[in-house]
Amino acid sequence: MYSEKVMEHFRNPRNVGEIPDADGVGTVGNPVCGDMMAIYIKVTENRISDIKFKTFGCGAAVATSSMITELAKNKTLEEAMKITRKDVADSLGGLPPVKMHCSNLAADALHEAIKNYRKKLEADKSE
Ligand code: FES
Repeated sequence: MYSEKVMEHFRNPRNVGEIPDADGVGTVGNPVCGDMMAIYIKVTENRISDIKFKTFGCGAAVATSSMITELAKNKTLEEAMKITRKDVADSLGGLPPVKMHCSNLAADALHEAIKNYRKKLEADKSE
């Protein structure tokens, strides 16, 4: 039911871990399945220079987290904000319909991390 690409990212996830001094962190959860995902970003000159994730969830949640870190790395914040759950699912060769929400979680976590970074930037400016 999973594509070979999903299985490959699940078995060998990229960019796993935490960035202790991250510039932005996005944490999201799905109340229905209980899965949780956190994405950490470092931003250099408006680009995502480093990105890591921690996911407590199903295989598709791990694979979509892994894939989104690859899609977002070295992108500008504006480009990364435009990455959709469909981009993630398509890059993985598709996901079963019941697993589409897992890619939603990954896109949401990335967008939350960027929003968190921007909020911190605003707070720093107003100090
Ligand atoms: Fe909920 Fe995968 S089953 S994130």
